Amino acid sequence: MQLHMNASDRFFSPLEQSDRNAFGPGVLEEVHSHLACIQHRSTPLLALSAMATHLRVGAVLVKDEGQRSGLRSFKALGGAHAVIKLVLQEVGKMLGRELRPDEISSEEVRACAGKLTITCATDGNHGRSVAAAGAIVGCRCVIFIHEGVSESRAEAIAAQGASVVRVKGNYDDSVDHASRQAIEHGWFVVSDTSWPGYESIPTWVMQGYLVMIDEALRQSHARGQKITHVFLQAGVGGYAAAISAYLINTFAASAPCIVIVEPDRAACLYESGLKQQATRIQPQKATVMAMLECYEPSLIAWRILERTASAFMTISDNVGLKAMGMMANPLLDDPYIQAGESGAAGFAGLQAAAASPRARALLAMDENAVVLVFNTEGATDEALYESLLLQAKALP
Ligand SMILES: Cc1ncc(COP(=O)(O)O)c(C=O)c1O
Repeated sequence: MQLHMNASDRFFSPLEQSDRNAFGPGVLEEVHSHLACIQHRSTPLLALSAMATHLRVGAVLVKDEGQRSGLRSFKALGGAHAVIKLVLQEVGKMLGRELRPDEISSEEVRACAGKLTITCATDGNHGRSVAAAGAIVGCRCVIFIHEGVSESRAEAIAAQGASVVRVKGNYDDSVDHASRQAIEHGWFVVSDTSWPGYESIPTWVMQGYLVMIDEALRQSHARGQKITHVFLQAGVGGYAAAISAYLINTFAASAPCIVIVEPDRAACLYESGLKQQATRIQPQKATVMAMLECYEPSLIAWRILERTASAFMTISDNVGLKAMGMMANPLLDDPYIQAGESGAAGFAGLQAAAASPRARALLAMDENAVVLVFNTEGATDEALYESLLLQAKALP
């Protein structure tokens, strides 16, 4: 495990005005009005009391996104919100009037939506969310996957009615491919990562994720718990940044300590933190935490995290696997949690940090800490999940 504190001059400087507006409680009403179309329900916040004792912290709370809508991942929120917002906007232009969210399933709107094609690149979960929302609103979706995406994840996207196209290379290559194809064919890119000149739609994707932190805060508040630490796993950093911005926008200086967790084989935010600028790293051997395998941070995510994250850390694949195994085989009366290989990574980061005296001291994490982590996915590939659990069991 490696961990460094955020040494950027920008740490704790105010968020840019656009990020203050985009990621505060004020946007939730609109997000919920769009997500009503996918009929999502709130996910549970689970307390792992025996684990908290084991890790010598006050409480371990797990927001279980493995139970989010039919997709078993928080990604269900982001892609859906962005697709529905985009379709309302574009069909509104075609019809020459502003559309209400509840018009999304009307014959007139669906007929126009059928003329739109939406595309994105994905490790699996985001593309599935975009495809599912595309099917609901009736637009065409072309989803690009890279060489490392499992066949069963490809099938799950295709089952939503999307065209799935496998391209050579890694996630970053598939992102480039999707944007080139979109320019060539006049398609709309609904990406979960952002780059210079392309920020609006990824912002909408990230706004969808705010639902889960809003729920988690309400759930912990109802139990009288105040969260002091949050461990957030990251790929391009979109989800971690959305949660972090929301916490800072809500609590300002009394926000929890935010720790970003990445696989050591794909730690572009960790490296960006060290260099104090967004940094693209060299692709390495694939990590088992497939959804976190990204080599370049999202522009918006880095802008937010350099201001809000207290620390950046990396974990090995084995630490990630063991955390998956522990969630599936809980201590004493703790609840069972089905956490996919990327879903367990935040919890893995907490375990690694709690076991390190240096990390405990740097993060001021002691027996009173109330720690929140997100299980960001359940068994989104069931066969892989079972085989990884066996691997985890065999680890020393
Ligand atoms: C299950 C899961 N967890 C975490 C992440 C990381 O999200 P981000 O790429 O926004 O950092 C992803 C991304 O696809 C994911 O699917």
